[in-house]
Amino acid sequence: MTILETIKKEHDLLNGRLSLLQREIATWSGHSEPDYDLLHALIEFFSVFPDEIHHKKEDHIYTALIKANVLETEYLKRLKSEHEEMGSLKETFSKNLKNLAAHHVSPKWSLIVDVTTYIDVQELHMADEESQFLPLAKKELSNTQLLGVAEKIQNELITDSAKQIFETLNRIDKTIDELLRKKK
Ligand SMILES: [Fe+2]
Ligand SMILES: [Fe+2]
Repeated sequence: MTILETIKKEHDLLNGRLSLLQREIATWSGHSEPDYDLLHALIEFFSVFPDEIHHKKEDHIYTALIKANVLETEYLKRLKSEHEEMGSLKETFSKNLKNLAAHHVSPKWSLIVDVTTYIDVQELHMADEESQFLPLAKKELSNTQLLGVAEKIQNELITDSAKQIFETLNRIDKTIDELLRKKK
């Protein structure tokens, strides 16, 4: 699998998790209680996977494109700034959800608005990447350049801190799967 195919596969995973998050938020907006355990696990997933794994891989592709002198630098900068925007949105709602769990003070509607905004930004961002960014990378980067990017990513994934991130992610995925099984 090429690095661009890996990115697409990760988008499929992210879209699946976003749909679950959307469903819990819709339940909550409809005045029923969400499955708080699932909501926490999903938010934990979004605190780890996009920022610690997925966006880091894409940043290497951005860098390779800029190095290859593609003209779309403004477009690439925007994608990168959307990563930061999503990171800070996620920080806000993750903190608010923790406050809700600890103090039972409900910033319910601001939380729902923040999570919904996050879902929208993520979905638009990924659709944009699939229609423009991935085709651009495929067109502008040679197989050798793509292999160079994959190698850089691979080197980052074998560090101790990356190993810890994957262990955390495994635990989160197991929790989500168990909670979904219980719901059936
Ligand atoms: Fe991205
Ligand atoms: Fe992406």
